[in-house]
Amino acid sequence: MSISASTKPQSRRSVASELHYLSGFGNQHATEAVAGALPQGQNSPQRPPLGLYTEQISGTPFTAPRAENRRTWMYRIRPSAMHPPFKRLDDRLLRSAPFDEAVPPPNRLRWNPLPLPTTPTDFVDGLITMAGNGDTAAQSGIGIHVYAATRSMTDRVFVDADGELLVVPQQGRLRLVTELGVVEAAPGEIAVLPRGLRFRVELPDGAARGWVCENYGAALRLPELGPIGANALANPRDFLAPVAWFEDRDAPIQVVQKFAGHLWAADYDHSPLDVVAWHGNHVPYKYDLARFNTLGTISFDHPDPSIFTVLTAPSDTAGTANIDFVVFPPRWLVAEHTFRPPWFHRNVMSEFMGLVHGVYDNKAEGFLPGGMSLHNSLSAHGPDAATFDRASAADLAPHYLADTLAFMFETRYVVRPTKFALETEALQRDYDACWQGFGKTFKGTQP
Ligand SMILES: [Fe+2]
Repeated sequence: MSISASTKPQSRRSVASELHYLSGFGNQHATEAVAGALPQGQNSPQRPPLGLYTEQISGTPFTAPRAENRRTWMYRIRPSAMHPPFKRLDDRLLRSAPFDEAVPPPNRLRWNPLPLPTTPTDFVDGLITMAGNGDTAAQSGIGIHVYAATRSMTDRVFVDADGELLVVPQQGRLRLVTELGVVEAAPGEIAVLPRGLRFRVELPDGAARGWVCENYGAALRLPELGPIGANALANPRDFLAPVAWFEDRDAPIQVVQKFAGHLWAADYDHSPLDVVAWHGNHVPYKYDLARFNTLGTISFDHPDPSIFTVLTAPSDTAGTANIDFVVFPPRWLVAEHTFRPPWFHRNVMSEFMGLVHGVYDNKAEGFLPGGMSLHNSLSAHGPDAATFDRASAADLAPHYLADTLAFMFETRYVVRPTKFALETEALQRDYDACWQGFGKTFKGTQP
């Protein structure tokens, strides 16, 4: 356990440009923004230090086994309960399970990057749902959203009661000012916001775009390593949670909540980002994907892409993830007498991919940074014809794949595109063509 303290409370205007973090995945962190604010030896003293209110937020049932249990104790200026009723807000292009507004096609789909908005748009208004699956009420499945925003949230905060949010920036940094502190994530990094945590999104670079995987199921965690051993893939100490930070701000603040698939809003008379100290493990965190210790073959054949799993959220069926977050970072290709790109395959799991930057090694063209693809359950896909020809004839010297960062949300349930995703001009209506032109090279004869 680590405790950090700064000597002075920080105002909203003084979020340090150099942020401090607490290291370690799933740790029981403890942090206070004002020395002495965190009670010692108990969670709910009769009179908490500095006149703060005590509040627990739980991410699992109280009775979840210790290894699964997630909760955080907060010590705040006002209790979260002090607010008027929530009222419905327009969902705009945000959608939620059961994703039944369009019949899901078995076709392979690919999209160009969605354009940035031309009018001032914050993170919440800039959420566009592309697809999803499962059931928010049953706590299974995911929502897949693009965010495209041009201005910081100033007088409102967001909270998602339906799921945990895995944020993958593609353009522009995000400064996530949460109840538990400030997390900054740039393209090449990810951030995870636990279910139910309030936050606002500031855009230090102006316009920002990326993806959000809304995980309705069990929280993301590190995958088991099996025979790999005690280290590698994503190492626990590279996951960074924020130190406590708060604002003591009496002003109208709108809290926008996603609840049971829809947006609601309540007007607070103060900022709910007023947690002065906290301890627990239901926390936001960030991770630099450049820290991912990528493994692969040093002999022959292309291993299954599960070797690239950063985080996984299990379902109730062993080995069958609600969502795996998988990355394809820069790496060496050294396999001997092997077709090195991913092979042709039909995967029972459904694959939603995005490209953060560079070129993805399995497509010669058309998969653009900011673009995305969906290869649904058992749809046939793999290298396009140009990649197949190149890789089949390639000199098999060690080859370094530079400037590439693709990712995949891989999920057990069919991914159901939204009406928007099927109708947008960004949909590449000729995607199937990339698998045309495979000549018949069979040299045998049918007996
Ligand atoms: Fe695939």
